[in-house]
Amino acid sequence: MRMVLLGPPGAGKGTQAIRLAERLKLPHISTGDLLRENVKNNTDLGKEAKGYMEKGLLVPDELVAKMLAMRFRQPDTKKGFILDGYPRNLAQAQTLDDLLNGVKMALDLVAYLDSSEAVIIQRLSGRRVCSGCGANFHVKNMPPKAEGICDNCGANLYQRSDDNEETVMVRLQVYQKEAASLIKYYQDQCRLARFNADLDPGIVLNQIIESAKARNDSLKV
Ligand code: AP5
Repeated sequence: MRMVLLGPPGAGKGTQAIRLAERLKLPHISTGDLLRENVKNNTDLGKEAKGYMEKGLLVPDELVAKMLAMRFRQPDTKKGFILDGYPRNLAQAQTLDDLLNGVKMALDLVAYLDSSEAVIIQRLSGRRVCSGCGANFHVKNMPPKAEGICDNCGANLYQRSDDNEETVMVRLQVYQKEAASLIKYYQDQCRLARFNADLDPGIVLNQIIESAKARNDSLKV
């Protein structure tokens, strides 16, 4: 199963991607996480990407494409993947098709997580992320058992620096500018399925899995 999760910031792409990866035993590839790792490790890519990410802007396509191509060269992606945060525009969608065509593969499903602006702002302002395993929590919607501590690995939770109101508004504008053409691109390829991401995360997960099963008979859940 080769799946892309599309949707506005805060729709729950990361939350669903982690759960899908676990259920389907596939690698979760998040371009946001890969970029943040590069920033943390102060790599050349991280140094270039940092300014864009802090402003809520897209990191230039060629940098992200190179990073993704490297990740796709790792053998765990042969059995499939859950791709979260890529593509963000038409050029990236074409790059992804080229990368997959190069190894005679295609996407099975593009899951579009649709959410309203009010929900997004409420979610991002309360999001907390684990500094150890990257799990997502929310101070109200999905609180950890002990405040500030990850349920899974016990590491500290932190608030992402781009989750402030000003940067969230920029991220939303960037998303809205590109979203319609990206959705049309995958609709035309008959790969897109829409999900109401305002529902409970467990319900959203089951709906995505049902849709994935309908598109890939051999899927083991
Ligand atoms: P990235 O990390 O990809 O951020 P994003 O797309 O803005 O998405 P988020 O991670 O904010 O939201 P999400 O949809 O994953 O929501 P989550 O599951 O956490 O990118 C960051 C930056 O990196 C970009 O701005 C850009 O600069 C750069 N970048 C990344 N990819 C790039 C690319 N391809 N090209 C160029 N630049 C790129 O959920 C949010 C909160 O809601 C959590 O607290 C969660 O607990 C809660 N929640 C989730 N689902 C539910 C639910 N169903 N009900 C209740 N609460 C829920």
